[in-house]
Amino acid sequence: MGNSFAGQLVAALENSWPVIARPNQLPPPGDWSIWLLLAGRGFGKTRTLAEWACGQAASGQAGRIAIVAATAADARDVLVEGESGILAVAPPWCRPLYEPSKRRLTWPNGAIATTFSAEEPERLRGPQHDAAVCDELGSWSAPETWDMLQFGLRLGRNPRCLVATTPRPTRLIRELLAREGQDVVVTRGSTYENRANLAPGFFDQVIRKYEGTRLGRQELLAEVLEDTPGALWNREALDECRREQAPALLRIVVAIDPAATSGEDADETGIIVAGKDGGGLTEEWARCLPTLKVLGGNNLDTALHLAGARQRDDGRNDG
Ligand SMILES: Nc1ncnc2c1ncn2[C@@H]1O[C@H](COP(=O)(O)OP(=O)(O)OP(=O)(O)O)[C@@H](O)[C@H]1O
Ligand SMILES: [Mg+2]
Repeated sequence: MGNSFAGQLVAALENSWPVIARPNQLPPPGDWSIWLLLAGRGFGKTRTLAEWACGQAASGQAGRIAIVAATAADARDVLVEGESGILAVAPPWCRPLYEPSKRRLTWPNGAIATTFSAEEPERLRGPQHDAAVCDELGSWSAPETWDMLQFGLRLGRNPRCLVATTPRPTRLIRELLAREGQDVVVTRGSTYENRANLAPGFFDQVIRKYEGTRLGRQELLAEVLEDTPGALWNREALDECRREQAPALLRIVVAIDPAATSGEDADETGIIVAGKDGGGLTEEWARCLPTLKVLGGNNLDTALHLAGARQRDDGRNDG
């Protein structure tokens, strides 16, 4: 059939998303409001989000779509312009016009999608949507962004939200999982399912390294890992201690467990900042910073600089 119209049509249909998508990449049946796709690295999460958003816009099921990623750069570079993003997957006959300065995609039928950064919850105060796609919810720095998005999901008869993420056990993800079977439907998938579409070297050099490890269970098999066995702290206990604002502190201690070497296999430099207020032991307040990997090995100046910057943050981190 060559380049004939019929040939092009067959090729387009053969490569269309409903044909090549795996079952857990297609919208589940039922009356869900939130579709939570928990899947491993490289599974095709972003592609699933982009395809679903395009399908919603092209079919007229949604006319005002919110596209939310961990950062503004992720929304633009990954979800819109990326290799698995909307502009790459939209069929030639229904391509949206992208206006980066307006953070907006406009489809030929008038449907509009706007990009948002999870770092800026306030931007979601006001706009209304009838659909939303959220990439890597487990890495969002400001969980309030999720609440702001939900308040605005109020257009149309059945506003829907697709969340695709590698499942870090954050409070938000645990809350959504607790709603499974109610308004939340969950599909799961592993990195291995998409092997045919990933470079062989990725499996040989990257994936093999994490197979059988705890990190691999989360990042490849998409298991929600609650607690590190034997750890002194569990996530629930830490969540209970979180405060929006630190009280005035009388004493602040910075503890550093420096990386002794700088090679690829070197341990990370661990830093904890703890503070004590004036109320005695029972009022003690502590804040732990995430472990920081310091590029170039044991560069403590860099580590301390990063720690200082993080400490000045206003306590929004949920990681
Ligand atoms: N069903 C499929 N058929 C063909 N190609 C696919 C399919 N699913 C995903 N892909 C391709 O696999 C590659 C990885 O997909 P994608 O970037 O969406 O993965 P991801 O899960 O978002 O990865 P990461 O964990 O790094 O964010 C892309 O090239 C995408 O187009
Ligand atoms: Mg992705």
